[in-house]
Amino acid sequence: MTDAAAPPSAADRPESADRPEPAEPQGPAEPRGSALLPGSALLPGSALPPGSALPPGSALPPGSALLPTTAPDAAADTQAQLSAEIEAAHRAYADGLAHGAPREHGPRRDWPPYRSSILRHPTKDLHHADPETIELFAPVFGERDIGALESDLTVQHGGEPIGERIVVRGRVVDGEGRPVRRQLVEVWQANAAGRYVHKRDQHPAPVDPNFTGVGRMLTDDDGWYQFQTIKPGPYPWKNHFNAWRPAHIHFSLFGTEFTQRIVTQMYFPGDPLFALDPIYQSIQDPRARELLVATYDHDVSQHEWATGYRWDIVLSGSHRTWTEPADDRGVVDE
Ligand SMILES: [Fe+2]
Repeated sequence: MTDAAAPPSAADRPESADRPEPAEPQGPAEPRGSALLPGSALLPGSALPPGSALPPGSALPPGSALLPTTAPDAAADTQAQLSAEIEAAHRAYADGLAHGAPREHGPRRDWPPYRSSILRHPTKDLHHADPETIELFAPVFGERDIGALESDLTVQHGGEPIGERIVVRGRVVDGEGRPVRRQLVEVWQANAAGRYVHKRDQHPAPVDPNFTGVGRMLTDDDGWYQFQTIKPGPYPWKNHFNAWRPAHIHFSLFGTEFTQRIVTQMYFPGDPLFALDPIYQSIQDPRARELLVATYDHDVSQHEWATGYRWDIVLSGSHRTWTEPADDRGVVDE
């Protein structure tokens, strides 16, 4: 049993503590209302007029008042280094496939590009546990515990959250395509600015007072789930210098007993950060990776209200959606 024993809550969700403990303090936040170039900050005493901005293509002279908010840490790896490692591993995987090696459907546990997992990924086989004993202290829920409004992450506060309103809809099915009925689906995510409501997320993006980023629902008799939310933004993390996670929504499926709980992430189509992300790329097989990406679905979009995405979850078989290993939950997740 791991941290995953605690179901997601706004106050203490281990999976939402997405970033490793800060190794370096964040740079100063850009003053509100300033029109500086991204990544720049005013030095104390400098006096750019309000609303001023440098023209495109202008060159800053050395020692000018505009400096990057962050500088490369000599100990931090670059994106180029990370990307080279990922590319080499994928090339080796493809070569292996060509020579008869088995296809992989999940991520590598021993995956050096995900730096903070090097010393904490599982190295031993799973232990078998008596499920009946676990059920004596594991969380339980009843269908009446789930309120209808919990599947709408945009109505949890007094006002409208900022961002692109979206509807996410899909089916939970088994390997034979049969619906998984009355399944508890829990979701949690960053806000439109890429900020989590979590004490460990202190990067300089705004918290939205009208958005917590947690919801849950049950699948219906045909295995369908649906929720409304705000499209999350990408966010920085400290795996390497200038590391950014693609926008994603975390999913948990409870199963019929707590020991069956699985956790995974849904991504958005066309994200330019896919190729750069060590977590997404920890799945070697491109077809398996693509199963984590939702598709835009115009039939799910709602007129003058929200854009729609479709994402199905297959629990078993060769088309199964990858889920995080049981002993990683709540520990490895970013
Ligand atoms: Fe996350």
